[in-house]
Formats: sequence, C-alpha cells, structure tokens
Amino acid sequence: MPRPSILVTWRLPSAVLARLEQVGDLDVYHGDADLSHSELCARVRDKHALISLVTNRVDREVIDAGTSLRIIANVGVGYNNIDADYAGERGVVVTNTPDVLTEATADLTWALILAVTRRVCEGDRLVRSGGWKGWKLDFMLGTQLNGKQLGIVGMGRIGQAVAKRAQAFGMNIAFTSRRQPALEGARRLPLDQLLMSSDVVSLHVPLSSETRHLIDQRALVRMKRSAYLVNTSRGPVVDEAALAWALRERVISGAALDVYENEPAVHPDLTRLENVVLAPHLGSGTAETRTGMADLAASNVIAVLTGKPPLTPIRTEGVA
Ligand code: DGY
Repeated sequence: MPRPSILVTWRLPSAVLARLEQVGDLDVYHGDADLSHSELCARVRDKHALISLVTNRVDREVIDAGTSLRIIANVGVGYNNIDADYAGERGVVVTNTPDVLTEATADLTWALILAVTRRVCEGDRLVRSGGWKGWKLDFMLGTQLNGKQLGIVGMGRIGQAVAKRAQAFGMNIAFTSRRQPALEGARRLPLDQLLMSSDVVSLHVPLSSETRHLIDQRALVRMKRSAYLVNTSRGPVVDEAALAWALRERVISGAALDVYENEPAVHPDLTRLENVVLAPHLGSGTAETRTGMADLAASNVIAVLTGKPPLTPIRTEGVA
C-alpha cells in the first residue's frame, strides 16, 4: 500500500514533523503569509490528511478538492474555519486541540482583565510619549477587582480556568452555560442578568450562528457603565462597531480584545480609543502551548492514518 500523504499548512516544530514523517510523506507549506485558498485547494488534492491552522478557510471547495482526505486536524480549539458538517457528510474526520491551550488562554484572559481595569497599556503609552508628570493622588485611577463580580459567558474548559484564577483575586463568579461546572460558589445566571450585574464580563463561547454578535448594542447597554468587556473567544461574538460606540459614549468603562471580526483588521474606531486594550490573538501564544497544539494535531493524524480512533474529534455542541 502506498504511504499516505499529509498537507501541513504551516511549518510545525521539527520534532512534530518527524513524528508525522514516520507515517506518511509530508507537503509542508513554508511561506510567511498564510497559504492562499486557491493554493490550499491545489495542494490538498491527493492528500490523505490536512493539518490546518485557524486562519485557513477549509470550506466545501477545499474538502471537495481533497478527494482522498480522511482527516482534517485543526491546530486550534476553535474550528469555525472548517465546514465541519460538510466534512462529516463526506466521511472526513475533523479534530481540534482542546485542553492543551486552556491554561495559556486563561492566563492571557487575566492579563487583559488586569491590563484594562488598571489601565496598564494606557499608562505605558503615556510614559513612552513623555507625557507623565509624576505621581498624583487622583491620577489614572483604575478599578479594584476584589469583591466584584466576574461574569463568564460560556463555562467550558477555558471559562472554568478563568473562574479558578478569579477566586485568587477575591472575585465573585457568575456564569452562563448549558452545563453546570464543578465550581463551588459560582452562580448561573441568564445572559441579561449576568450583563446587568457583572463588573467584568469575559466571553468564552465558540463562534456559531447562535453566538455571532451575541454582544451587540442591545447587550452593551445592559452592562453597568462601570463595567469592562473582555473577549478571548472569537471576534464575531462581539459587534465591533457597537462596541466602539459603547466605549466612545462611555456606555461601558473599557474593553480588552484578543480577537476581531475580520482579523487581522481591527475596527478603525477602536484603535483611536484609550479605554480599550487590543492584543493580536495571543490567547494560546506560549511556546509550550503552541508546541502542544501542533503535537496533538499530529497525534490525531497519526491515529487516523494508522486505523485508530482520533484522540480529540470535534464535539458539534461546542468547544469552549
Ligand atoms: C484556538 O485554538 O481556537 C485559538 O484561537 C488559537 O489561538
């Protein structure tokens, strides 16, 4: 039987590529920009496995081009970049990389919560510009977190890891979720009530037709004027134009974003505002985590190509 062939859309760590080479022939994309959609369609032909990034659009066209495909292994927990239903219809397994990125993403969420509530980036800009005139009692005051409520929208793995860290900061936790987590003292609330009562709202839902623009103008006006919004999930969960309006009009106090509606573009109004922290999709961005994600994607490919069940097939009800 001929060796299977595997398309890898980004240069993965060499140890991971070496593992893949043991089961198949590799076609690794080495460009600096993302592999274009047309090149993805061309290169997926005759491949038995595709290792994709969250920035690769793996739609019907790609899946149809990959007539020999047996698995699409996404390097990422979110898989809204893949037409997973169509892949399922075509009998192609889709896998993602849950768990390995939970702690890194929860850490980054907390970096953003602290940055926006204590005005760290705004202060950094002021110091660098030479505009700082020295300590003053009422200068650049932020918000204390101890005793305040953190509202977690989507209490999956990452939401729960964010909640655990919140306990160390003395915060009370409210959450929305279809599943009850094993976290003592956390209150489940309907979204509207969570928005109305929370001091910090952190989003941890997967992107779906239900969650697209979950945080729109209507949701933002429900939040406290003193509240902050943090998004490390997927950009389109927030209506960016509505958020820019809410920040400009001080409908809410601030926001911190790691993800955007049309990455890498950011709504121009957001870039002009001081009360928003803008990070470049760094949630899982530690060396250890990205290696773990690549390794898990490779393990899924190796399993499927050697006739075993995949380790982490996607769960269609959500991935947060
Ligand atoms: C994911 O895994 O979905 C992340 O967004 C990638 O950092």
